[in-house]
Amino acid sequence: MSTLLHVDSSVRAATNPNPDHDSISKNIARRFVDTWKQNRPEDEYIYRDVGVNPPDFITQDWIGAVFTPEENRTPAQEERLALSDTLIAEVSAADVIVISSPMYNYGMPAQLKAWFDQIVRINKTFDFDLARGDFPLQPLLSGKTLIIVTSSGEFGFEKGGIREDSGHLAPHLRTLSKYLGVDTTYEIAAEYQEFGDERHRLSVAKAKARAESLASELSSSASAQSSENEVANV
Ligand SMILES: Cc1cc2nc3c(=O)[nH]c(=O)nc-3n(C[C@H](O)[C@H](O)[C@H](O)COP(=O)(O)O)c2cc1C
Repeated sequence: MSTLLHVDSSVRAATNPNPDHDSISKNIARRFVDTWKQNRPEDEYIYRDVGVNPPDFITQDWIGAVFTPEENRTPAQEERLALSDTLIAEVSAADVIVISSPMYNYGMPAQLKAWFDQIVRINKTFDFDLARGDFPLQPLLSGKTLIIVTSSGEFGFEKGGIREDSGHLAPHLRTLSKYLGVDTTYEIAAEYQEFGDERHRLSVAKAKARAESLASELSSSASAQSSENEVANV
C-alpha cells in the first residue's frame, strides 16, 4: 500500500456554477488523482486544499518554539507547532505527492508558500551542520515522487521560453521539493488561460491527458514494485 498526498492551492473551486471560473490546476490534478485511485483503490489518500483553507503564516513565536528543544517546550509552544507537526506527518507518510498551483504574480500563491513554511523545519525535514561547509542544510526525508501541476494566464515560462526570466513558480517548487524528500519530479503545465484561445484549449487538454497517462504509468509501476516486494518476502 502507498500513500498519495494531494495538495491544491488555487483560491478557485474545482467546480463552480459558471464553469469558466473553475480552477484549471485543480481539475488537472483531479485527473491524476482519479486515475490513481481507480488503479490503486487500496492506497491511503490525504487531501489538503490550502487555497480554500490556508495554513497560518509562521510568526516570531513559531520560530521561537521551533528552536526550543522539544523537552523544554511549553504547552503553548507545542500548541503553536501542532499544525506544522500534522502537515509534516502528512508529507512523511506520503510516497507520491501531487501539488497543484496557479501562477500568481509569477510565483506560487501565498497560501502554498505558507504550507511550505510550516513544513520546512529544522530537525524535522532538514538538519543543519556547519561541518558540511557551504551547504550546511541537509534534507531528512527521501524516496518520494512529486507531480507538479501548474496553470498560468501567460505562457513561455519554461527553459528557453519567451518568459523564462519571469517563471518563478516551477523553479521555486523544484528547489523546495528536496525538503519534502522528493527524489523524482514530474511537471505538467497548462498555459494561455488569459488568451482564452485555441492554444489555451489545446494546452489544458494536453495537460489533462498527460495527468491521466502519468498516473497510469506511475500507479502500474507502484503495483509492480509491491508485487516484487511480496515475492521477495515469501
Ligand atoms: C491574483 C492573480 C495573479 C495572477 N498572476 C499571474 C501571473 O503572474 N502570470 C500569469 O501568467 N498568470 C497569472 N494569473 C493567471 C492565473 O495563473 C490563471 O488564471 C490560472 O489558470 C489560475 O489557476 P487556476 O485556474 O487553477 O485557478 C494570475 C491570476 C490571479 C487571480
